[in-house]
Amino acid sequence: MTTRLRPLTPRLGAEIDGIDAATVGEDDLGLLRDALREYKVVFLREQRIDLDGLLAFSRHFGELMRLPYIRPLDGYPEIIRVLKQAHEIDMGTFGGDWHSDFSFLAAPPKASILYAEEVPRVGGDTLWIDMVEALRRLPADLRAALDGRDAIHTGAPYGVAHAPAADTRFRGSIEIERDNPEADRETRHPAICRHPDSGAEMLFVNPTYTTRIDGYGEAESKGLLAELYRHLLRPEFACRFRWRPGSIALWDNRNTLHYAVNDYDGQRRCLYRTAIAGHPPVAGG
Ligand code: SIN
Repeated sequence: MTTRLRPLTPRLGAEIDGIDAATVGEDDLGLLRDALREYKVVFLREQRIDLDGLLAFSRHFGELMRLPYIRPLDGYPEIIRVLKQAHEIDMGTFGGDWHSDFSFLAAPPKASILYAEEVPRVGGDTLWIDMVEALRRLPADLRAALDGRDAIHTGAPYGVAHAPAADTRFRGSIEIERDNPEADRETRHPAICRHPDSGAEMLFVNPTYTTRIDGYGEAESKGLLAELYRHLLRPEFACRFRWRPGSIALWDNRNTLHYAVNDYDGQRRCLYRTAIAGHPPVAGG
């Protein structure tokens, strides 16, 4: 099978044809890893894998981790189902605001993988932002305000724009466990980090889990984060992926943010996801 790589934008997102996730060999894996390094998120189409196949494919990229606060699938502790059903309308969706996965953990995942089983006829796309490019184009005064500072993260929003009631435990399609001490506590990471593989510097803050920048008063920190998000959440730094059943997205969780677009009320969307264990982020500069 010939392999073809088609960038979605010059630096972020590439679709790769001609790879079968179920039988992927060393050459294909080399290509996928290179593409991931260069484009930060890569997409495969028309894949046919079951849950064991998703685990086997995911393990090629590192050790799998169990995700906090979301109940995994029975018999598959390392897989969660990202499901919104047709009757779940006028409510938030998991991942429905800009975030990097579980940035509030001391060691957030280095990569994430999503496999689409069923997607809306229209809508339900996912967007990513390139945090290397966002930092490269950061105005000097904003950069100076962040240099050497930590950002504080907490998992308390539980990955949804409208979190379920605080007493909710394992209810609704995504089965979120509230009152989870691992999510509720605060963690600090450098606001500007260095990518451990490429050496590139990148911003490491996100509107879902970052609560403040250390060393500033509450109002000042809020203003700084608002200015930062105005800068980085721009189409120039983004790519958008239209899912089809059988699509796979594999992304670097350290140098990207992503956003699940919740515009498909009345339609069912069901994906399965894994996460690859990472290390504590390292300061840039
Ligand atoms: C997520 O944030 O992991 C979910 C992304 C999606 O459903 O598109």
